[in-house]
Amino acid sequence: MEELSPKIVRSSTLTEFKAAGRKFSCLTSYDALTAGAFDEAGIDVLLVGDSAADNVLGYSSTLPITVEEMIPFGRAVAGAVKRALVVVDLPFGSYETGAEAALANGIRVMKSTGASALKLEGGERSSTAIAGLVTAGIPVMGHIGFTPQSVHALGGFKVQGRGDTREQLIEDALAVQAAGAFAVVLELVPADLAREVTELLTIPTIGIGAGAGTDGQILVWTDFAGLHAGKPRKFVKQYLELRSSLVSAARSYRADIAEGAFPGKENEF
Ligand code: KIV
Repeated sequence: MEELSPKIVRSSTLTEFKAAGRKFSCLTSYDALTAGAFDEAGIDVLLVGDSAADNVLGYSSTLPITVEEMIPFGRAVAGAVKRALVVVDLPFGSYETGAEAALANGIRVMKSTGASALKLEGGERSSTAIAGLVTAGIPVMGHIGFTPQSVHALGGFKVQGRGDTREQLIEDALAVQAAGAFAVVLELVPADLAREVTELLTIPTIGIGAGAGTDGQILVWTDFAGLHAGKPRKFVKQYLELRSSLVSAARSYRADIAEGAFPGKENEF
Protein backbone atom coordinates (compact mmCIF):
# COMPACT_ATOMS: atom_id res chain seq x y z
CA MET A 1 0.00 0.00 0.00
CA GLU A 2 1.33 3.40 -0.99
CA GLU A 3 2.54 5.39 2.03
CA LEU A 4 1.19 8.93 1.71
CA SER A 5 3.17 11.41 3.81
CA PRO A 6 1.92 14.91 3.06
CA LYS A 7 3.76 17.92 4.53
CA ILE A 8 0.43 19.32 5.73
CA VAL A 9 -2.69 17.27 6.41
CA ARG A 10 -5.85 18.94 5.12
CA SER A 11 -9.44 17.74 5.24
CA SER A 12 -9.08 16.63 1.60
CA THR A 13 -5.97 14.62 2.53
CA LEU A 14 -8.13 12.23 4.55
CA THR A 15 -10.14 11.46 1.40
CA GLU A 16 -6.86 10.72 -0.38
CA PHE A 17 -5.84 8.44 2.50
CA LYS A 18 -9.12 6.56 2.18
CA ALA A 19 -8.74 6.19 -1.59
CA ALA A 20 -5.19 4.85 -1.11
CA GLY A 21 -6.21 2.52 1.73
CA ARG A 22 -3.80 4.37 4.05
CA LYS A 23 -5.11 4.13 7.62
CA PHE A 24 -4.69 7.36 9.54
CA SER A 25 -4.22 8.29 13.18
CA CYS A 26 -6.02 10.87 15.33
CA LEU A 27 -5.64 11.91 18.97
CA THR A 28 -7.32 14.53 21.06
CA SER A 29 -5.20 17.40 22.39
CA TYR A 30 -6.05 20.44 24.46
CA ASP A 31 -2.71 22.21 24.93
CA ALA A 32 0.37 23.35 23.04
CA LEU A 33 2.87 20.86 24.51
CA THR A 34 0.97 17.64 23.80
CA ALA A 35 -0.06 19.03 20.40
CA GLY A 36 3.59 19.68 19.52
CA ALA A 37 4.62 16.19 20.62
CA PHE A 38 1.80 14.41 18.74
CA ASP A 39 2.48 16.50 15.64
CA GLU A 40 6.19 15.63 15.78
CA ALA A 41 5.18 11.95 16.03
CA GLY A 42 3.22 12.26 12.77
CA ILE A 43 -0.30 11.92 14.16
CA ASP A 44 -2.49 13.00 11.23
CA VAL A 45 -5.41 14.68 13.01
CA LEU A 46 -5.54 16.47 16.36
CA LEU A 47 -9.04 16.91 17.72
CA VAL A 48 -9.59 19.63 20.28
CA GLY A 49 -12.44 17.60 21.71
CA ASP A 50 -15.12 18.87 24.02
CA SER A 51 -13.73 16.02 26.16
CA ALA A 52 -11.60 18.90 27.47
CA ALA A 53 -14.66 19.32 29.72
CA ASP A 54 -13.89 16.22 31.78
CA ASN A 55 -10.19 15.83 30.94
CA VAL A 56 -9.06 19.37 31.70
CA LEU A 57 -11.81 21.34 33.38
CA GLY A 58 -13.00 18.58 35.73
CA TYR A 59 -16.67 18.59 34.67
CA SER A 60 -18.46 15.28 35.04
CA SER A 61 -19.51 15.19 31.35
CA THR A 62 -18.99 17.16 28.14
CA LEU A 63 -22.29 19.02 28.52
CA PRO A 64 -21.19 22.10 30.51
CA ILE A 65 -18.26 23.24 28.35
CA THR A 66 -18.91 26.43 26.38
CA VAL A 67 -17.62 27.99 23.18
CA GLU A 68 -15.70 30.52 25.33
CA GLU A 69 -13.97 27.67 27.17
CA MET A 70 -13.18 25.74 23.96
CA ILE A 71 -11.49 28.66 22.21
CA PRO A 72 -8.23 28.85 24.25
CA PHE A 73 -7.75 25.08 23.88
CA GLY A 74 -8.26 25.35 20.12
CA ARG A 75 -5.86 28.27 19.85
CA ALA A 76 -3.17 26.48 21.88
CA VAL A 77 -3.32 23.35 19.71
CA ALA A 78 -3.61 25.10 16.33
CA GLY A 79 -0.71 27.39 17.26
CA ALA A 80 1.59 24.47 18.12
CA VAL A 81 1.03 22.30 15.07
CA LYS A 82 2.95 22.31 11.76
CA ARG A 83 1.52 19.28 9.97
CA ALA A 84 -1.57 17.74 11.58
CA LEU A 85 -5.12 18.72 10.69
CA VAL A 86 -6.59 20.54 13.71
CA VAL A 87 -10.31 20.03 14.28
CA VAL A 88 -12.24 21.77 17.08
CA ASP A 89 -15.47 20.43 18.60
CA LEU A 90 -18.55 22.63 18.68
CA PRO A 91 -19.80 22.14 22.25
CA PHE A 92 -23.30 21.20 23.40
CA GLY A 93 -25.74 24.11 23.02
CA SER A 94 -23.79 25.89 20.30
CA TYR A 95 -25.47 24.35 17.23
CA GLU A 96 -28.63 22.44 18.23
CA THR A 97 -30.93 25.46 18.00
CA GLY A 98 -30.45 25.72 14.24
CA ALA A 99 -28.19 26.43 11.31
CA GLU A 100 -27.89 30.12 12.20
CA ALA A 101 -26.50 29.45 15.68
CA ALA A 102 -24.21 26.76 14.26
CA LEU A 103 -22.85 29.17 11.69
CA ALA A 104 -22.35 32.06 14.14
CA ASN A 105 -20.55 29.84 16.66
CA GLY A 106 -18.65 27.98 13.97
CA ILE A 107 -17.33 31.19 12.43
CA ARG A 108 -16.35 32.44 15.89
CA VAL A 109 -14.39 29.27 16.67
CA MET A 110 -12.65 29.27 13.28
CA LYS A 111 -11.68 32.95 13.55
CA SER A 112 -10.47 32.74 17.15
CA THR A 113 -8.55 29.46 17.07
CA GLY A 114 -6.86 29.14 13.69
CA ALA A 115 -8.16 25.56 13.42
CA SER A 116 -8.84 24.05 9.99
CA ALA A 117 -12.14 22.30 10.66
CA LEU A 118 -14.98 21.77 13.14
CA LYS A 119 -16.70 18.67 14.48
CA LEU A 120 -20.25 18.36 15.69
CA GLU A 121 -22.37 15.47 16.91
CA GLY A 122 -25.51 13.96 15.40
CA GLY A 123 -26.55 12.39 12.10
CA GLU A 124 -29.82 13.34 10.37
CA ARG A 125 -30.71 15.76 13.18
CA SER A 126 -27.54 17.80 12.57
CA SER A 127 -27.50 17.69 8.78
CA THR A 128 -28.86 21.25 8.34
CA ALA A 129 -26.22 22.66 10.69
CA ILE A 130 -23.48 20.72 8.86
CA ALA A 131 -24.71 21.89 5.45
CA GLY A 132 -24.79 25.54 6.59
CA LEU A 133 -21.21 25.42 7.86
CA VAL A 134 -19.98 23.63 4.73
CA THR A 135 -21.72 26.20 2.50
CA ALA A 136 -19.87 28.91 4.42
CA GLY A 137 -16.57 27.24 3.56
CA ILE A 138 -15.90 25.47 6.86
CA PRO A 139 -14.86 21.80 6.66
CA VAL A 140 -17.00 19.73 9.04
CA MET A 141 -16.36 16.33 10.63
CA GLY A 142 -19.50 14.48 11.74
CA HIS A 143 -19.84 12.26 14.82
CA ILE A 144 -22.43 9.49 15.12
CA GLY A 145 -23.03 6.30 17.10
CA PHE A 146 -22.51 7.11 20.77
CA THR A 147 -22.53 10.90 20.96
CA PRO A 148 -21.35 11.99 24.43
CA GLN A 149 -23.36 15.23 24.38
CA SER A 150 -26.51 13.05 24.31
CA VAL A 151 -25.35 10.74 27.12
CA HIS A 152 -28.56 11.25 29.11
CA ALA A 153 -30.87 10.62 26.17
CA LEU A 154 -28.88 7.51 25.24
CA GLY A 155 -29.10 6.12 28.76
CA GLY A 156 -25.36 6.12 29.48
CA PHE A 157 -22.22 4.91 27.71
CA LYS A 158 -23.72 2.24 25.44
CA VAL A 159 -22.78 0.68 22.13
CA GLN A 160 -25.07 2.12 19.42
CA GLY A 161 -26.45 0.57 16.23
CA ARG A 162 -27.38 -2.82 17.64
CA GLY A 163 -30.71 -4.43 16.68
CA ASP A 164 -33.39 -1.98 15.53
CA THR A 165 -31.07 1.03 15.59
CA ARG A 166 -28.69 -0.42 12.97
CA GLU A 167 -30.59 1.07 10.02
CA GLN A 168 -30.82 4.47 11.74
CA LEU A 169 -27.06 4.52 12.18
CA ILE A 170 -26.58 3.85 8.47
CA GLU A 171 -29.12 6.61 7.67
CA ASP A 172 -27.22 8.97 9.98
CA ALA A 173 -23.92 8.19 8.24
CA LEU A 174 -25.46 8.84 4.81
CA ALA A 175 -27.08 12.08 6.04
CA VAL A 176 -23.78 13.42 7.40
CA GLN A 177 -22.08 12.60 4.08
CA ALA A 178 -24.92 14.15 2.03
CA ALA A 179 -24.71 17.32 4.15
CA GLY A 180 -21.10 17.74 3.02
CA ALA A 181 -19.03 16.49 5.97
CA PHE A 182 -15.48 15.49 4.97
CA ALA A 183 -15.24 12.65 7.53
CA VAL A 184 -17.29 11.07 10.29
CA VAL A 185 -16.43 9.69 13.72
CA LEU A 186 -18.11 6.38 14.61
CA GLU A 187 -18.11 5.99 18.39
CA LEU A 188 -19.05 2.75 20.21
CA VAL A 189 -20.39 0.97 17.13
CA PRO A 190 -20.22 -2.81 16.53
CA ALA A 191 -17.18 -3.61 14.38
CA ASP A 192 -19.18 -5.25 11.57
CA LEU A 193 -21.50 -2.25 11.26
CA ALA A 194 -18.58 0.21 11.30
CA ARG A 195 -16.95 -1.79 8.50
CA GLU A 196 -20.20 -1.78 6.49
CA VAL A 197 -20.58 1.99 6.92
CA THR A 198 -16.94 2.52 5.94
CA GLU A 199 -17.47 0.55 2.72
CA LEU A 200 -20.73 2.38 1.98
CA LEU A 201 -19.40 5.92 2.43
CA THR A 202 -17.07 7.80 0.13
CA ILE A 203 -15.90 10.01 3.02
CA PRO A 204 -13.48 8.53 5.57
CA THR A 205 -14.70 7.06 8.85
CA ILE A 206 -12.79 7.46 12.12
CA GLY A 207 -13.43 4.84 14.77
CA ILE A 208 -13.36 4.96 18.55
CA GLY A 209 -14.65 1.71 19.97
CA ALA A 210 -15.70 0.74 16.44
CA GLY A 211 -13.19 -2.01 15.57
CA ALA A 212 -10.48 -2.20 12.95
CA GLY A 213 -12.57 -1.66 9.82
CA THR A 214 -12.70 2.16 9.84
CA ASP A 215 -10.39 4.36 7.75
CA GLY A 216 -8.85 6.08 10.78
CA GLN A 217 -8.73 5.65 14.54
CA ILE A 218 -9.02 8.19 17.33
CA LEU A 219 -8.34 7.98 21.05
CA VAL A 220 -8.62 10.57 23.80
CA TRP A 221 -4.97 11.30 24.60
CA THR A 222 -5.37 10.88 28.36
CA ASP A 223 -6.74 7.36 27.70
CA PHE A 224 -3.95 6.45 25.26
CA ALA A 225 -1.33 7.73 27.73
CA GLY A 226 -2.83 6.10 30.84
CA LEU A 227 -3.38 9.33 32.74
CA HIS A 228 -6.61 8.14 34.35
CA ALA A 229 -6.82 6.16 37.57
CA GLY A 230 -8.46 2.73 37.27
CA LYS A 231 -8.99 0.22 34.52
CA PRO A 232 -9.18 1.57 30.94
CA ARG A 233 -12.34 0.98 28.93
CA LYS A 234 -12.38 -2.06 26.59
CA PHE A 235 -11.74 -0.12 23.39
CA VAL A 236 -8.71 1.75 24.76
CA LYS A 237 -5.10 0.65 24.29
CA GLN A 238 -2.75 2.34 26.75
CA TYR A 239 0.63 3.19 25.24
CA LEU A 240 1.98 4.67 28.47
CA GLU A 241 1.29 4.48 32.16
CA LEU A 242 1.57 8.20 32.63
CA ARG A 243 -0.40 8.44 35.86
CA SER A 244 1.76 5.96 37.75
CA SER A 245 4.92 7.59 36.31
CA LEU A 246 3.72 11.01 37.50
CA VAL A 247 2.81 9.72 40.96
CA SER A 248 6.20 8.06 41.29
CA ALA A 249 8.07 11.16 40.01
CA ALA A 250 6.12 13.43 42.37
CA ARG A 251 7.00 11.11 45.28
CA SER A 252 10.70 11.26 44.36
CA TYR A 253 10.53 15.07 44.12
CA ARG A 254 8.82 15.31 47.51
CA ALA A 255 11.42 12.99 49.07
CA ASP A 256 14.33 14.91 47.47
CA ILE A 257 13.05 18.16 48.95
CA ALA A 258 12.52 16.59 52.37
CA GLU A 259 16.07 15.14 52.30
CA GLY A 260 17.73 18.27 50.87
CA ALA A 261 18.71 16.43 47.68
CA PHE A 262 17.00 19.05 45.50
CA PRO A 263 17.99 21.68 44.51
CA GLY A 264 21.60 20.46 44.14
CA LYS A 265 24.71 22.52 43.41
CA GLU A 266 24.04 21.99 39.67
CA ASN A 267 20.68 23.76 40.00
CA GLU A 268 22.11 26.86 41.67
CA PHE A 269 23.00 30.22 40.11
O1 KIV B 1 -14.39 15.10 22.43
C1 KIV B 1 -13.83 14.04 22.11
O2 KIV B 1 -12.81 13.63 22.69
C2 KIV B 1 -14.40 13.26 21.01
C3 KIV B 1 -13.78 11.93 20.73
C4 KIV B 1 -14.33 10.93 21.67
C5 KIV B 1 -13.97 11.52 19.33
O3 KIV B 1 -15.34 13.66 20.42
